[in-house]
Amino acid sequence: MIKIAPSILSADFANLERDIRRISTADYVHVDVMDGLFVPNITIGIPVVAAIRPATDLPLDVHLMIDRPVRYVEQFCRAGADIVTVHVEADSQENTLRALDIIRGQGKRAGVVLKPATPAQAALPFLDRCGMVLVMTVEPGFGGQSFMADMMPKLAQLRAWIDQRGLDCELEVDGGIDPVTARTVVENGAAVLVAGSAVYQAADIPGRIRELRG
Ligand code: DX5
Ligand code: ZN
Repeated sequence: MIKIAPSILSADFANLERDIRRISTADYVHVDVMDGLFVPNITIGIPVVAAIRPATDLPLDVHLMIDRPVRYVEQFCRAGADIVTVHVEADSQENTLRALDIIRGQGKRAGVVLKPATPAQAALPFLDRCGMVLVMTVEPGFGGQSFMADMMPKLAQLRAWIDQRGLDCELEVDGGIDPVTARTVVENGAAVLVAGSAVYQAADIPGRIRELRG
């Protein structure tokens, strides 16, 4: 079944506990961490992950949009993250491998993320250590942007490699996902859909989550 990971970037941060309860029928809580360097925006970090951990039974899917994430992955795991994904563009191959090993060593699911300009091949050195690969369908940094349909060949390529190798690796998409684009990404192999504005702007949030799941 398709999994839905609402992004709390579109939640009301003054009412975060309430807004996390509102997505209790989803599969993961997607947490967008931005440092103002890797992306031109600053959001939330380790203390917020620790604070929301007791507020939900759902796994926390932490998307690190930060420079040299190897420096912080252990702290995010200790704060309560269940899945931690790092951008392949954020550090050297050696340090990215090290970050994935640290996350796995903490007993968590590790993953890599590809920005729109990054080819599918960039995930290959990491695939056998990944429990998640995340394909950005917008430029990371902000919610509410338009879906980039031209990412679909990349998504389909990653689906093919994951299946050919028989990997226990979820394929996730993030950015501009709504009930229409959700069908497109699922057709191209996505299994986990991140959605921020499409979930939090809906009048009926459980209904919207069902609709996205298809
Ligand atoms: C963008 C974030 C996304 C964002 C998605 O950098 O990684 O998770 O919140 O928001 P929507 O679904 O509104 O495009
Ligand atoms: Zn994200």
